[in-house]
Amino acid sequence: MEKGWLAVLVPLAALVRMMPAADNVLRVDYCVIGGGPAGLQMGHLLAEAGRHYVVIEKSNISGSFFARYPRHRRLISINKRSTGKRNREFNFRHDWNSLLSKDPRLVFSSYSQELFPQAQQMVQYLNEFQRLLHIRVRFNTLVTQIRRQHETKTFLISTNRDFSLQCRWVIVATGLWLPNVPTFPGSQLLEMYDQVSVNPKEFHGQRVLILGRGNSAFETANNIYGETALVHMVSRSRARLAWSTHYVGDLRAVNNDLLDTYQLKSLDGLLEADVRGMTLRRSRGGKLRVRFNSSLDLELASDADSFALRDAYDRVIACLGFKFDDSIFHRSTRPARCRLASKYPAVKSNYESENVAGLFFAGTLAHSLDFRRSAGGFIHGFRYTVQALHRLLERKNHGVAWASRSLPLRHLVNTLLVRVNQAAATYQMFGQLADVYLIRNNNKSEFMLVPEFPAALVGRLDELAGHSGAGGSVLVSLLEYGADFSGPAKDTFRPDRATGDPQEAHRSNFLHPVLYFYRQPPTETDLLKDDHGTHLLPRPDKTHHVLEDFLTQWTAPTAHVLPLRRFLQSCLGRDLSSGSARGDCFVSHLESKTDLPACFLDSK
Ligand SMILES: *[C@@H]1O[C@H](CO)[C@@H](O)[C@H](O)[C@H]1NC(C)=O
Ligand SMILES: *[C@@H]1O[C@H](CO)[C@@H](O)[C@H](O)[C@H]1NC(C)=O
Ligand SMILES: *[C@@H]1O[C@H](CO)[C@@H](O)[C@H](O)[C@H]1NC(C)=O
Repeated sequence: MEKGWLAVLVPLAALVRMMPAADNVLRVDYCVIGGGPAGLQMGHLLAEAGRHYVVIEKSNISGSFFARYPRHRRLISINKRSTGKRNREFNFRHDWNSLLSKDPRLVFSSYSQELFPQAQQMVQYLNEFQRLLHIRVRFNTLVTQIRRQHETKTFLISTNRDFSLQCRWVIVATGLWLPNVPTFPGSQLLEMYDQVSVNPKEFHGQRVLILGRGNSAFETANNIYGETALVHMVSRSRARLAWSTHYVGDLRAVNNDLLDTYQLKSLDGLLEADVRGMTLRRSRGGKLRVRFNSSLDLELASDADSFALRDAYDRVIACLGFKFDDSIFHRSTRPARCRLASKYPAVKSNYESENVAGLFFAGTLAHSLDFRRSAGGFIHGFRYTVQALHRLLERKNHGVAWASRSLPLRHLVNTLLVRVNQAAATYQMFGQLADVYLIRNNNKSEFMLVPEFPAALVGRLDELAGHSGAGGSVLVSLLEYGADFSGPAKDTFRPDRATGDPQEAHRSNFLHPVLYFYRQPPTETDLLKDDHGTHLLPRPDKTHHVLEDFLTQWTAPTAHVLPLRRFLQSCLGRDLSSGSARGDCFVSHLESKTDLPACFLDSK
C-alpha cells in the first residue's frame, strides 16, 4: 500500500519541478527586458528609487548588440573628451555615449580616447556600468513569451530558465535587432549586412552593389571601396546627410566617403530605385545580374541599352536596417506598430504601448515619438527619455512628484540663462524635452522649475508631474532649429543661414532657445499649428526666440539677455531687472565645476 503511494508521488514531484509556473514564479514590480544601454539606464534609476525590479538579458553580457554591431566596429557617436569647460552637465551636451549616474568613474571618455570610439569600448563601459552600480540583471535569460493577464492586470513572462516572472509593469528595451530582409525574385542571392565579411581583402577587384542608404550601408561601402573595382548603392530615397537634416541617424560625414568618389566620377555611384521592384539572377558566368520591373527613371529602365546597372556584379549586399522584434509577445499582448515608421512599436507620449496598458518602451524602441526629428533613437537622447519615463512611472505608480526646484521670482531670468546654456537633456532632446516654469500668481515671489518634461505632455503637467500651475502662468523653454532649415535638400551652408540681429531672432536657424508663454496652464486641446502640421505644444499666448549663437553661448548682454528679460517682464507685468546677473557671470560659470553660479544666487 505505502509502496503504491510512493510510486505515484515521485513522478508527480518530478513533474512539478519541471513546471516552473506552479511555484517558481518570481513576483516583481518592474520587469525590464533587455540589458543594453536603455535597460541599464532604467535599471539604475529604478534601483536608485528603491523599486523592486529586475533586468532580463538574453546574453551573458550587457550591451551584447555592441559586441556584434556596427559590423565594422566604429561607433559614430561623438566622444568629445575636451570642451574647454569643467562643468559636467554642460559637457554632457557633447558626450554621446555615457549613461546618467552620479558615479564620476562612469564617464565614457575614461573608456576611450577616440572621437569615434570602438564598439568594444561601449561593451566594456556598459558592463562596468552594470557592475559598479550593482544593477540587478538576470543574464543568460531568454524571454520566450510575454502575456498580459487581464484578471490580475499583470504580465506573465516565460523564460528559457527554470523560472517565470509575474510583473506589474513591463519595460521593453530590446532595441532593434531584426534585420530588414527584402523579398524579391532572386533575393536569396543577397548577402546580408549582419553576415557579410568585414575583411576588405575579400572584396579585391570586385564589383559590389549595396542596397540601402543608411549608415550601415555607407559603413559597409567605406570599409571596402579601397579594394573593390567599384561600389554602387541603390535605395528608394535620396541620401539624407545628417548635416543638412540635423538628424544624427542620417548619413554621417564619418561614413560618407562614397559621395566623393561618386561625384568625382571615380567609378562608384548612387542611384534611386525601389528595391521591391528588383530582380536578381545568377548568370552562367556566376555573376549577379540586376533588373527592375519598371521605372520612371530612364537611367534605371532595364530594357534601355544604357541601363545604369547593366554590368553584372560579383556581390550584392543588403544593408536595409533593423526592426523591432515582437515575436516574444503572445498574440493577445502584441503591441501595435507605429503607422508612420513601422519598424517601431506605436507608443503614446508617455512611452506606453498604444494598445497594451502597463507595457512601456525605453530607448530606441520609443523613437517613433521623435523619429527623424531629435535624438531619442540614440544613447545621448534616450538616456533622458528613459529618465522621463522613470519620472512618469514614479508619479503614476508611487505618487512621487517630478523633480522640481522652487526659487524666488527675481532669479527667473538667471535660472533660464543657466538652463539654456548648460542643461544637456533639453539640448540633446531638442524640440522634445522642455523646461517648464510655473509662475504662481497667488504668490508673486516664487516660481517652480519642472525640468526636462516631455513637451507633448505639457497640457497634463498637473496629473503627470504632480505640480499644479493652477492660478498662475506657465513658461515652456525648448531648444529648436529654425522651422524650415532641416531637410535632405536644404542648403545649410547658404550665406544667410544665420542671423546676428536680435530684431530677427525669430528667424534663427541653428539650435536656439524658444520660449512659449501661457497666461493660464495650457490644456491638450488647442495644439499649436506649424509648418509640419501640428506642433507638440498647445498654442501659446506669446513666443520669444533667443537669438541663435555661433558659440551656443546665450549670454550676450544686449543680444540675448536684455530681449529675454523684456519678454519675461512683458509676460509677467513685473520688473525683473533687480535679480539679473551679467552675462559674463555665466560664461565664467561654465568653466567651473559647481552646479549653480554664485553670481546667480547672490544677486539681489
Ligand atoms: C560570454 O559567452 C561567450 C560565448 O558565447 C564567451 O566567449 C564569453 O567569454 C562569455 N563572456 C562572459 C563575460 O562570460
Ligand atoms: C514593381 O516595383 C514596385 C516598386 O518599385 C513594386 O511596388 C511593385 O509591386 C512591383 N511590381 C511587380 C509586378 O513586381
Ligand atoms: C509664498 O512663498 C513664500 C516663499 O517661498 C512662502 O514662504 C509662502 O508660504 C508662500 N505663500 C503662499 C500663500 O503660498
